[in-house]
Amino acid sequence: MQAKAHSTPNIAFIKYWGNRSEELRLPQAASLSMTLDRPTVEIVIQEADAFSVRSFLADGGEKALREKDIERFRKVLSLMRRYLETLHAKDALPEHSAITVRSHIPPAIGLASSAAVFSCLAKAVAGLVAEKITLTDMQTSILARLGSGSAARSIFGGFSTLEEGSGMELGSSWSEQIADERHWLLHDIVLIPALEEKKVGSTEGHALASTSPFYATRIETIRSRRQQECIDAIRMKDFEKLQNVTEEDCLDMHHVMETSSPSLHYLNEDTHRIVNAIKGLRSKEHIPVLFTMDAGPTVHLVCPDEAKDAVLSFANAQKGCTIFKAKVGPGAKII
Ligand code: DP6
Repeated sequence: MQAKAHSTPNIAFIKYWGNRSEELRLPQAASLSMTLDRPTVEIVIQEADAFSVRSFLADGGEKALREKDIERFRKVLSLMRRYLETLHAKDALPEHSAITVRSHIPPAIGLASSAAVFSCLAKAVAGLVAEKITLTDMQTSILARLGSGSAARSIFGGFSTLEEGSGMELGSSWSEQIADERHWLLHDIVLIPALEEKKVGSTEGHALASTSPFYATRIETIRSRRQQECIDAIRMKDFEKLQNVTEEDCLDMHHVMETSSPSLHYLNEDTHRIVNAIKGLRSKEHIPVLFTMDAGPTVHLVCPDEAKDAVLSFANAQKGCTIFKAKVGPGAKII
């Protein structure tokens, strides 16, 4: 018995930062992202005599996993089994399974590999249990969320949310698709200024969010208007509206990070230089392009198709940066 899936990362316009349950990755507020078409991750899961995880890079070489990473997979599978139990399908997932991950994500490029990996694992698990229970994409997104909050959104292609939901159950927060990948052709030109690994991972970062004096206002603003403004901007393909709400939310999240205890500084001098330069280009040449940064110094420049060439030549002119190109994509699939 085995199943295989592939998936990709996503880039958030409204950022997920902070949980109401760290263990279950239940978010404090909703978030919203665009699923990318690359780089891909593939996972094979099969029934086995004992639990194991192995990870391989695109060139075929095996990547040594830390004990902490292996533990995360073990924990996720046990949470997934608990969730399946709530659907009366506890035994659908074998007691032990062997997981093989093949990642085409270049190391340390600032693209969330956990979103691609855990959405891929969830889809593979959905394939594995399919004989006993057919999971909807919404239920599969719950499985993904148990591994990484942002992974829930990569179950869907195009544009999707992670809903805040209510309650403290395993299934109390899930993803929903706003529009599929054919709705709006947007590109993500990724500029990676520094190849250093980030110091504090998102999992530890989420737990600090509520120590910032600005966190409560952030949550309230997302709930009262930002998430809805972003949904409206996408539905109406209103780029200017999308730009305003995305940049506002990104800077707000980094403000919360920088004012938490201890404070988290993910942006560096290169990030600020690139952001200022793109603002300059925008006001001079009226190019539709927005910037957003996750938990690292990498700058994502998102633009519609007509601005792609101008944004690419801007990116190529930035010294010392690695550039990665992606566009809106179809989400996790069983293969
Ligand atoms: C800043 O989903 O990476 O990228 O659940 O601990 O894996 P874990 O956190 P993760 O958090 C994402 C943080 C972010 C914003 C976002 O993608 O929404």
